[in-house]
Amino acid sequence: MATAKANVGDTPPNIVVGVAGGIAAYKAVSLVRELVLRGATVTVIPTASALKFVGVPTWEAISRNAVPTSLFDAVAEVRHVALGHNADLVIVAPATAHTLASMAAGLAPDLLGTTLLATRAPVLVAPAMHTEMWEHPSVVANMATLMSRGIHAVGPESGALTGQDVGLGRMAEPEDIAEAAWNLLGAAVVSDSPWAGKNVVISAGGTREYLDPVRFMGNRSTGEMGVSLARAAVARGATVTLVAANLEVALPGGIEVVHAPDAASMEREMVARSAEADVVIMAAAVADWVPVETHSEKLTKSETGETWSPELRQAPDILATLGAHKPSGQLLVGFAAETSDDVATRESHARDKMARKNTDVMVLNQVGPQVGFGPVETAVTLFFTASPQSRAIEGMKSSVAGRLLDALLE
Ligand code: C5P
Repeated sequence: MATAKANVGDTPPNIVVGVAGGIAAYKAVSLVRELVLRGATVTVIPTASALKFVGVPTWEAISRNAVPTSLFDAVAEVRHVALGHNADLVIVAPATAHTLASMAAGLAPDLLGTTLLATRAPVLVAPAMHTEMWEHPSVVANMATLMSRGIHAVGPESGALTGQDVGLGRMAEPEDIAEAAWNLLGAAVVSDSPWAGKNVVISAGGTREYLDPVRFMGNRSTGEMGVSLARAAVARGATVTLVAANLEVALPGGIEVVHAPDAASMEREMVARSAEADVVIMAAAVADWVPVETHSEKLTKSETGETWSPELRQAPDILATLGAHKPSGQLLVGFAAETSDDVATRESHARDKMARKNTDVMVLNQVGPQVGFGPVETAVTLFFTASPQSRAIEGMKSSVAGRLLDALLE
């Protein structure tokens, strides 16, 4: 992966990595190494239980920095506040159920707790726990509280857990956490990015087409990809407008958000906002058909009878409209979500769409019952009008988004 070195003036970013007491602490060692290699100054703050998994000498060797462990050491330096004050970013990886609860409650039993309360820097958590714990209502509520306070999360992922079980709860891969951290550091990587100062319009989410006041035809898009792209573009210094349809993911700061819940409003907003844009990325899943009529009252079964076929008409193809009126110099990017198992079929559909809709780039991604939706791993292939070469990118969406942007302006 291309890793831009952090560069705020000549000062490397200060990152605090809080490590909680879960077995994934061993993977946090790789995270710390990755951050150091990217040029960050890293201070590791392990909790007492984290030290049962990985000891101080390992953290000190890997971070190349002293590891504070107690609230009551170096009290004269007011270290319980200073570490948080000086941080450009605080990461908690792994974030255990206990640490998330402690954060949600605002507890400060140790140096990590005080640092998290004292900091005004962005905070990124990488939860790791067994599926049952991750799905427990108390953990769900604590995550919701933390998200509502603007805390960022990466993962967890599905995969092998400790022991025999497999499921959601595995900590995100160190490289993906590092990429999410880099995106959050924002200004740190903008200085030499070709995205700096670009005006970028991105659509995200899935439209809903209402049959009556309570029922709609929608799709499974959560907005994860479009929002990850928005986050990555802001981190590279772009001015971003996100045209959002029914997002199920937390929004990053620093972007203008325009709500466009259905195909008609999405068309209106995209046409209006993209006129002045340098780059337009159409990542939203827009309906292909919309009901001819939306009933003003909730429909009843007695009105529809035993079977019912609401009349549908084709939705406006927004991307094709944008392609037909593309200002010169604008880069227009479409997404082709394909369900075929056959690579050649998927690729030929994507290339057809690129030609038909007059885009400069088409991003092919496979979707299906188990693949493609939400904060998951994805594999995309980029096709370019200007080149017969294609480009494959794999990984968590948060990480793919940054590399996709880098490939677009390469
Ligand atoms: O033809 P298909 O829907 O697969 O094309 C996908 C691309 O077209 C995506 O970029 C999507 O955002 C866009 N699209 C659109 N308007 C539609 C349907 C899809 O702009 N009504």
